[in-house]
Amino acid sequence: MTSEMWDQRYSGREPVWSTTPNMWVEQVASQLPVGTALDLAAGEGRNALWLAELGWDATAVDFSAVALERARAWASERLGDDAGRLTTVVADLAEYQPEQAFDLVMVVYLQVPEDLRRPVLRAAASAVAPGGRLLVVAHDSANIADGHGGPGDPAVCYTAEDVVTDVAGLGLSPLRVELARRPVATPDGEKVALDALALLAR
Ligand SMILES: C[S@@+](CC[C@H](N)C(=O)[O-])C[C@H]1O[C@@H](n2cnc3c(N)ncnc32)[C@H](O)[C@@H]1O
Repeated sequence: MTSEMWDQRYSGREPVWSTTPNMWVEQVASQLPVGTALDLAAGEGRNALWLAELGWDATAVDFSAVALERARAWASERLGDDAGRLTTVVADLAEYQPEQAFDLVMVVYLQVPEDLRRPVLRAAASAVAPGGRLLVVAHDSANIADGHGGPGDPAVCYTAEDVVTDVAGLGLSPLRVELARRPVATPDGEKVALDALALLAR
């Protein structure tokens, strides 16, 4: 999908995603000391904003200016005088290179083909500070057949093992490489989404 298509999707009155953080981001980041975070493909910024509320300096990058405008508006509402703890950058990840290192780099549900995913994840890995973490969460390839929601195109789904392969040779050690089961409440009862969860450390 192009940035224009995403802008269109984010142009409605209602949030496209939840306003609360992804459960894996919450689980991982709540164990870490407050620091600096980079959220690539941040969308409306639910994860970066939650970190900023905890005191992190968070940078949210996305190529949808509309999504990041919403993130800024939410930052004003939720962070008040501390809204500056959220920085937003409108950029295409095909070209974006972080200019500094971060304690936590996140890529959450960036579902793009391998020829884009791999350089993006390598740029993300390269931006992890010494002692820092890379967290990648995605709709797992197995979700298409066995899980709830997510894209149906196998070309944009991947596994936690794919992430480890993508960032090989960049000095990160895997801490968690999992097919993670995420409960989803639906009108038809609880379903389970299958996520790829890769957590690596420098
Ligand atoms: C499924 S949403 C996930 C948003 C957010 N990470 C979350 O979990 O709420 C995927 C996001 O990736 C962004 N995106 C896709 N391709 C991109 C690219 N090439 N450069 C920057 N952002 C991109 C879209 O604009 C969209 O906001």
